[in-house]
Order: sequence, then structure tokens, then C-alpha cells
Amino acid sequence: MGLKIIGTGSGLPGKIVTNNDLAEFMDTSDEWISQRTGIRQRRILSGSETLLELSTKAAAEALQEAQTSPDEIDLLMVTTIGGDYKTPALSCLLAGELGMNCITLDVNMACCGFLYAMHTANAYFCAGMAKKVLIVSAEALSRLTDWTDRSTCVLFGDAAAAAVLEHSDCEPVFSMELRGKDGWEHLHATRGTDNCPFNNFENNGFLHMNGQDIYKFAVSSITARIHALLDTCSLTIEDINTVLLHQANLRIINGAVTRFGHPEKFPHNMENYGNTSSASVPLLLHEVKGNFRPGDKLILCAFGAGLASAACLLEW
Ligand code: ACO
Repeated sequence: MGLKIIGTGSGLPGKIVTNNDLAEFMDTSDEWISQRTGIRQRRILSGSETLLELSTKAAAEALQEAQTSPDEIDLLMVTTIGGDYKTPALSCLLAGELGMNCITLDVNMACCGFLYAMHTANAYFCAGMAKKVLIVSAEALSRLTDWTDRSTCVLFGDAAAAAVLEHSDCEPVFSMELRGKDGWEHLHATRGTDNCPFNNFENNGFLHMNGQDIYKFAVSSITARIHALLDTCSLTIEDINTVLLHQANLRIINGAVTRFGHPEKFPHNMENYGNTSSASVPLLLHEVKGNFRPGDKLILCAFGAGLASAACLLEW
């Protein structure tokens, strides 16, 4: 028993911000950003655009492709570091928008959110608690980054991407690790200001990252997760058709390619979107799935705040 992805979709902000646009108001350059990260532009929520609008568009597209009506969905999960409101959850708002009346969950696992939601969906399928699940990964990192900190704000973008999952005989294999206490300080966003007179927790609500430590964590965790999947399934990288990695940085993807070879199996699109956290794997899936053939073996893999890493091997 397992799952099959039967529809995908995306919802992108209208505003495109190029590296040159950033260089107009901060001390950076297209050359620095593109050489160090591969990123050339990103989409940023602007004006009155909301994550709910992006999520609705992505979900509607995925449902249409899956030929599934909203009332056939048994579980709706939204993966996000933060929706338009702290409460209610974005999944509740989206359920209202789509006219759904099912179980809804927000999953905050940063860049690994889509993989953790797939794992949860698989558990629901195996327990006989769901036949179809909708996952929408919707992130607005532009609201979390400090726009005066050139070492982080140039890396991220906003996006939503969705997938409809159906219960099937194709049994996925997962490999996951959560280090929690060991490393959280390298990548975290504090809570933001409050005015409670009884605490003195100092914070500004922005994202803090130690880029070089995250780089090392990223490459080592990708390597560990993929080896774990291959060992469990008695496969080698030669047996895998495509590896969809979290799109944080082209150098990280090149680090994985150095270890596994086969650059043609590691597609990337961070050039156009930057790092969209949990939306990056489903967004890449949505863009490249036209090349997949039935029976192809795929690996999806992400790493991020926690520190957490997760990967899944499944047949298309
Ligand atoms: N433009 C120009 N110069 C910059 C910029 C910028 N945007 N940002 C930093 N610099 C400068 C620094 O001030 C520093 O200058 P100095 O030498 O005068 O002090 C110099 O560039 C080098 O800075 P480093 O931080 O050492 O740069 P590094 O080569 O490590 O590259 C980067 C930074 C791209 C973040 C790299 O560490 C990296 O790829 N890390 C991986 C982390 C990542 O991609 N995280 C994504 C988010 S987390 C996630 O998704 C899980």
C-alpha cells in the first residue's frame, strides 16, 4: 500500500525581482549572487497579494489535473513556515476557499515540509483513513528575511505548489532525520516582538542563517538520505531516473552531483525562483514531470531548519 501523485500545480507571485533589481537598493551584484548561488531572479509577494491566493491557484490546478473535485479530498495539508495569519491556519482558510470540509493540517517543517506531508499522507493511506490527499506548499520567505541583510535576503523567493496524492499499490520508501537540538541555531527565525511584560526574550522576528554551516549540513544530509534510500531498496544511483533536490543553491546541487555523478538526473530551477523553502520540491516536480515516464524511479530530497532532512523514493 502506498501513494501515487496524480496532479500538480503552482501559484506564483506576479512580481519578478532580478539580482540587478536588488543591486539598486543594497550592496550586492548579479555576479556575486549568481556565481555563489545560481539564483538570477525570484518572485516576491507584492501589493495586496496573499499566500492564500497563491495556494488556491496551485491547488485548483493540481485538482484539475487530477480530475478530482475538492469534496473527494480526505485530508488537506498546507506546508508553510507561516501563513497570512498566525491563526487561523492557512489550511483552514484554503479549505474554505475551495469549499472543502475535510481534516486540515498546517505542517511547519521549513524546507522539508512537503516531504513530511507526503510521509503523513502515506500513513493516512496505510491506515485506511484517506483515499486522496491534497498537499499545498506555500511560502513567503520575503516576510521573514531581513531586507537589510544581504547575506540572506538575496537567497529566497515566494511561491506555492501543490500535489494531489492518491492511495495506490506503489509503495514509497522514506528516509528522514531530525536533529533538533543539534544545529537549530544555524538556521532559525525568532518569534517576533511582543509586549508581554513578563518576559525579556530578545528577538526581531527575522531569519538568521550561518551559510557555511548550512552548506556542509546540506551536502552531507543529501548524501546520507539518498544512500539510505538506495541501500534500503538495494538500488544504485544508476537505477534512479531523476533526483528532485530542494532548490536552495546551485552549489549544493553541484556538491551532490560530485558525490553521485549523473548531472542530467538533478534538474534545477532555482535560477528563476530562488529558495522557496517547502514549495521548492513540488514546484520543481510540477515543472519537470512532463519528462517522466510511467515506472520511472524518482528521489525527492530536502533539508532545512531543524536541522531536518528528508527523502522519498517512489515510482512515477
Ligand atoms: N552580495 C555581495 N557580497 C555579499 C553578499 C551579497 N549578497 N552576501 C555576503 N556578501 C559578502 C560577505 O559580506 C563577505 O564579505 P567579506 O569577505 O568582506 O566579509 C563575502 O561576501 C563572503 O561571505 P560568505 O558568507 O563567506 O559567503 P559564502 O561564500 O559562504 O557564500 C552563501 C554565502 C551563498 C550563503 C553560502 O554560504 C551558501 O551557499 N550557503 C548555503 C546556505 C544556503 O543556501 N541556505 C539556503 C537557506 S537554508 C535552506 O534552505 C535549508
